[in-house]
Amino acid sequence: MSLTDTSISSVLQEERLIHPPPAFSNEAHVSSLRKLKALRKQAAADIYAFWEERARALDWFAPWRSTCEWKYPRAKWFVGGKLNVAHNCLDRHVAGWRRNKAAIIWEGEPGDTRTLTYQALFTQVCKFANVLKGLGVKRGDVVAIYMGMLPEAAIAMLACARIGATHTVVFGGFSADALRERINDSKAVCVVTQDDAYRRGQSIALKEAVDEAVKKSATVRKVVVLRRSGVEVRMKSRRDHWWHELMADASPIASAPALNSEHPLFILYTSGSTGKPKGILHTTGGYLTQAAYTTKMVFDLREDDLYFCTADVGWITGHSYIVYGPLANGASLFMYEGAPNHPEPDRFWDMIARHRITIFYTAPTAIRAFMKWGDKHPRRHDLSSLRLLGTVGEPINPEAWMWYHRVIGGGRCPIVDTWWQTETGAIMISPLPGATPLKPGTATLPLPGIDADVVRRDGSPCDVNEGGYLVVKQPWPSMLRTVFGDFQRYKKTYWSEYPPQKDGRPAYYFTGDGARRDADGYIWIMGRVDDVVNVSGHRLGTAEIESALVSHQSVAEAAVVARPDDVKGNALVAFVTLKGQAKQSARAVEKLRSALRNHVGGEIGHIARPDEIRFTDALPKTRSGKIMRRLLREIAAGGSITGDTTTLEDFSVLERLREADDDA
Ligand code: WT7
Repeated sequence: MSLTDTSISSVLQEERLIHPPPAFSNEAHVSSLRKLKALRKQAAADIYAFWEERARALDWFAPWRSTCEWKYPRAKWFVGGKLNVAHNCLDRHVAGWRRNKAAIIWEGEPGDTRTLTYQALFTQVCKFANVLKGLGVKRGDVVAIYMGMLPEAAIAMLACARIGATHTVVFGGFSADALRERINDSKAVCVVTQDDAYRRGQSIALKEAVDEAVKKSATVRKVVVLRRSGVEVRMKSRRDHWWHELMADASPIASAPALNSEHPLFILYTSGSTGKPKGILHTTGGYLTQAAYTTKMVFDLREDDLYFCTADVGWITGHSYIVYGPLANGASLFMYEGAPNHPEPDRFWDMIARHRITIFYTAPTAIRAFMKWGDKHPRRHDLSSLRLLGTVGEPINPEAWMWYHRVIGGGRCPIVDTWWQTETGAIMISPLPGATPLKPGTATLPLPGIDADVVRRDGSPCDVNEGGYLVVKQPWPSMLRTVFGDFQRYKKTYWSEYPPQKDGRPAYYFTGDGARRDADGYIWIMGRVDDVVNVSGHRLGTAEIESALVSHQSVAEAAVVARPDDVKGNALVAFVTLKGQAKQSARAVEKLRSALRNHVGGEIGHIARPDEIRFTDALPKTRSGKIMRRLLREIAAGGSITGDTTTLEDFSVLERLREADDDA
């Protein structure tokens, strides 16, 4: 990626300020902005001492020699220290009263439920650790996990962590091809999967995809298959084994060996700007320290909470904020197998009411879908158990923020807008809900111990409200250690835009995000740098234009991309989905087009008015809900679609967009 432009115009102004309710603050871990500021100051004065203190919340089998060894661009944390992630998530809880506390309360899509206490989860993990060992999996081996949202996915992850195997979870929505690529790149020796998975009432044939993916694998020796639906699957003798058969014979006694702090815990693949996914490598001590600390502080976790994160274990959010962070804190987590609109669009609200869930963490794209489905679904249910809401994954437009706050949170729940990445491993920028006054649309301030800033191309800090690049100026415990098998790509992608300077200035980690800081120091993410558009010499964040479009009463969702223009350099093309599906006359559509252009002109200024507005009934998205702007850019430019499309949520969307194109 190259940074050729010098400034990003930020034009969206959001003035609302929402203070934490006193009743919330009084009970919170950090109860005022003053205390938060003191904590940040203390951390900034000695960042290593700060994180050492946080690491002490974990059980260590041997102390570390040095807190952080940073040799550009290689970081090691708590060097010489020894610990075991599974021990921290399980053993230390079952040694006390939490033995009988619910660790996982799970609900299947068809409505079946299971509760695993810490003791039950511990026993399952020990048994599966022995199963893996029995199959020949050794410390340092890679195990691929290709499953739906079942407790067994967490059990498999924790069992790997227990024996020091490195897991790579592959999202169950990925195709056999995508799975094969990840298995080959990581050199996995074993795959854990299930017969099939439920999604929106349909069955997804996971075992079949595994068969396809490992057909010519040079590394995979064993496949473990959990029975979920009971559908018939082919089992290859000697290679394939049933989960329940292996578990029936497994001993429940498995020691948790002392592993090095830098022992590889997992690889998680994420897409980059090229076609080949990057295997982001995370290790043990630093990762767990920050995952545990941020879970406790950002979600203000209390012993009696029931916490529901709607992510999938196939994403980093599922790793850090379904499995490792909550369990390291001894929390009760709620896990759901299926789709949010099955059997009806009120499924989440129904579950929140029935289980008395207290903390709810989801993505802006989901929130906009809930808005589109209508208020009547949440209104039908008693959501009074909720005390805190969270979002992650993309900038949340103030419109959706206000809806979430009002309709789901009943006006009483703080919202933590959490900025982070697969690469950062844990939350970096976020409010603390008892302390930080909120502004809809910003993740607010860097957490204590995180030295994030917005800088210019030359590395100098931006002025107030001057758009620039979001960087992290000092290493943090849960940062990625490398791109698996490709250290050069790691160095080039993250550490070469702002390398160390001759004057002694250290290297900055490059996030790839554009941002600005307002007068209060709050960081406003303006989208990926490659989503930034230069129109007639003005740099605009596409996210801001989208936010303006979505604030119009007729619009459900919008994606704005650029197409080359002879006069302006770039022209803006907006793809828009409308609330409600009613067919409209050509004249009404034309009227709406010009109304929307004027609306954006009014919200931001006429430079931001889309040159072209295309209506479509859905936008192409990755499995994690990110709009695939690259595809939209190609459509907008009138070209054909090339490159990797394996992460598309719904292929038919592409066809409809092309049709919309033909009409225009
Ligand atoms: C990118 C990372 C972290 C788990 C989910 C996504 C965007 C993430 C926010 C937020 C604005 C956000 C950034 C970031 N992003 N959270 N709260 N506000 N943007 O993980 O797939 O690694 O994506 O998502 O652009 O760089 P990911």
